[in-house]
Amino acid sequence: MSAFHSLSVHSTRIEARDTLVVRFAVPDDLREVFHFTQGQYLTLRAQIENEEVRRSYSICSAVQDGTLEVAIKKISEGLFSNWAAQHLRAGVKLDVMPPMGKFFTPLATENKKHYLAFCAGSGITPIFSIIKTTLLTEPQSRLTLVYGNRASSTMIFRTALSDLKDQYMDRFNFINVMTREQQDAELFNGRINAEKCQSLCQHWINLNDIDQTFICGPEQMTEEVASTLVKLGLDKSKIKTELFGTQTSTKTRRTESVRAHSDTHCEVTVVLDGRQFTFSMEKDKQSVLEAGLSQGLDLRYSCKGGVCSTCRCKVTEGKVDMDMNYALEDYEIARGFVLSCQSFPATNTLTIDFDQEN
Ligand SMILES: Cc1cc2nc3c(=O)[nH]c(=O)nc-3n(C[C@H](O)[C@H](O)[C@H](O)COP(=O)(O)OP(=O)(O)OC[C@H]3O[C@@H](n4cnc5c(N)ncnc54)[C@H](O)[C@@H]3O)c2cc1C
Ligand code: FES
Repeated sequence: MSAFHSLSVHSTRIEARDTLVVRFAVPDDLREVFHFTQGQYLTLRAQIENEEVRRSYSICSAVQDGTLEVAIKKISEGLFSNWAAQHLRAGVKLDVMPPMGKFFTPLATENKKHYLAFCAGSGITPIFSIIKTTLLTEPQSRLTLVYGNRASSTMIFRTALSDLKDQYMDRFNFINVMTREQQDAELFNGRINAEKCQSLCQHWINLNDIDQTFICGPEQMTEEVASTLVKLGLDKSKIKTELFGTQTSTKTRRTESVRAHSDTHCEVTVVLDGRQFTFSMEKDKQSVLEAGLSQGLDLRYSCKGGVCSTCRCKVTEGKVDMDMNYALEDYEIARGFVLSCQSFPATNTLTIDFDQEN
């Protein structure tokens, strides 16, 4: 589960000027391992300037496509995204972790649902997979996409989305909201924020008809849209969010958080790939992920910032204090799941299990 596999890049193509779509070649013996659900992501690992760098990228293929693709948008001064744009070509090998993430709801052929999605910029990637997979899997379901961009030239998957709209005219509704390209209807100009979300729901989207909402984009947009939808009466359980990053740094939070525990040691047991490892760590000095890594354990992680959930594990004995959590849902926390990159021991003994899924 935590293992990386070396996959060759099958091909690459450019989308919307600054986004590289990378298709991986998956050998037959790894097909099962890389089988994914729409909305999931891959963690990629590369050595850049003699440093190991890990980043997560959502899969943009439909489950039915039979391909494994991610779309990497170049970020100004971004380490991995610029390296990828320069180095990833057909034949290059890259370390890839099997698909992870819970940004999806189960699909069924007989479903007759209406899904709503809000995204901006590269936030389209998991949504694109969700849209294509759902249209193909649930012939009676409908989707409404609200997609924010600067202009149509910066819109990732613009042509493919227009084609889908033509092909599924009565099942796929596609609303473009643009900041720098004037559109006829004022409603579709500007940024996706609380106000825009409210106006769209007043004039265009009937929330009473929505079964499930997916939101993916910058932190502020995601939070504003989610809270506005709840304010307008949509049940929180019908909203799933995926963040690609956060402005809140771990360091700030960590100094802000006041720990009630004395600065003593904790005996930690880690269950990983069916084996148990035990070590001692200082309670307040490191996260349990960092402590495990410094013991040489091959624990899975990507962002180390409480965003991606790659480091998710279950506390089966003892307690932790978790600093930030942008990834786990309430029901997962209730079942004892934590983000090990954000967890600090709160008891003298602690057992965390990386093998448990549910
Ligand atoms: C679950 C998950 C799925 C993701 N899926 C995708 C995806 O499908 N496509 C994609 O392009 N990215 C995706 N990301 C974001 C991706 O993992 C990287 O964070 C992103 O590519 C930037 O990495 P970098 O090394 O280039 O930039 P870094 O060197 O890490 O950052 C450079 C600067 O850019 C800022 N920054 C980082 N990320 C962003 C961002 N997304 N937008 C604006 N500024 C940013 C940082 O704060 C920093 O100041 C995903 C992240 C997560 C957690
Ligand atoms: S490594 Fe991303 S949430 Fe912990």
